[in-house]
Amino acid sequence: MEATIEVRGLRKSYGPTVAVDGLSFSVQPGQVTGFVGPNGAGKSTTMRVLLGLDTPDEGEALVGGRRYRELRAPLCQVGAMLDAAAFHPGRRARDHLLWMAHSNGLPAKRVDEVLDLVGLTSVARRQVGGFSLGMRQRLGIAGALLGDPPMLIFDEPVNGLDPEGIMWIRNLLRWLAGQGRAVLVSSHLMSELEDSADHLVVIGRGKLIADTSVRELLDRAANGRVAVRTAQRHEAMTVLSIAGATVAATGPDSVTVSGLPVERIVTLLTEGGVSFSGISEHRPSLEEAYMELTQHAVEFHATAGQVRSWS
Ligand SMILES: Nc1ncnc2c1ncn2[C@@H]1O[C@H](COP(=O)(O)OP(=O)(O)OP(=O)(O)O)[C@@H](O)[C@H]1O
Ligand SMILES: [Mg+2]
Repeated sequence: MEATIEVRGLRKSYGPTVAVDGLSFSVQPGQVTGFVGPNGAGKSTTMRVLLGLDTPDEGEALVGGRRYRELRAPLCQVGAMLDAAAFHPGRRARDHLLWMAHSNGLPAKRVDEVLDLVGLTSVARRQVGGFSLGMRQRLGIAGALLGDPPMLIFDEPVNGLDPEGIMWIRNLLRWLAGQGRAVLVSSHLMSELEDSADHLVVIGRGKLIADTSVRELLDRAANGRVAVRTAQRHEAMTVLSIAGATVAATGPDSVTVSGLPVERIVTLLTEGGVSFSGISEHRPSLEEAYMELTQHAVEFHATAGQVRSWS
């Protein structure tokens, strides 16, 4: 079975609220695909439809080419952790997973493997009701990994986690994609996907805003720009713009230069007697790159097919 997650022309309303409005995208194996959009954009709804927890009004949501409900051993095809991972508070962590494993014909040995994988072995016999948020997230992930599925869907897995927990999830996502799995992970913050996503599907008000590889997005935003740190910002801007560069102030002691190579910038500043403490190729953050993409999209709104602004 091809391990691709696919959403085609999906539409879903709740009464007068249109949660998902004609959405199409696909999630390829071997990649982490970030699913980004502000609160209420329709991320969880899309994921619920993918997991057969909600029925679409129009279109389809397929995992490995099939509807979730048609899967015979779903845990072995697609693993999922939704936003509000619900556990029975009185149940012990290991028992929760044993019950899941049993219902999908998986051995108890696999339960102990995933408990180990998420670092919950020492608390496996404790009641879930006493678990911290981070421990709950880990237990949710253990459940998702139980059937060793080629496709994974995580709804806001880093929500509320401390920096160590966020780092752990990032590494886990990368590791899972590195094994050839298709990983779809939602977030309402672009910055949360920094260093973990290979691809981005951005939505707003149930509609697709952007569908792009992270590499392409960052390269386009970097656009050969150079970052210069200098206490003499004003002098640096003068010298460089006279030489034909486009210079923008990006902080009290930093400017971003485009139109000149690094070597030329060094020469110009040195000859002009302008001191500087650092020069490097500009590496935009994911957030910054995305802002640029959408700003551009607003200017060329009429021609942009794949890219639109938030509103
Ligand atoms: N069961 C429901 N009943 C009524 N309205 C719903 C239901 N589920 C979602 N909605 C509405 O659909 C829209 C999309 O919600 P959804 O939860 O999919 O967004 P989201 O992108 O996951 O947001 P968040 O970042 O806050 O999790 C919202 O306006 C929400 O209020
Ligand atoms: Mg949500």
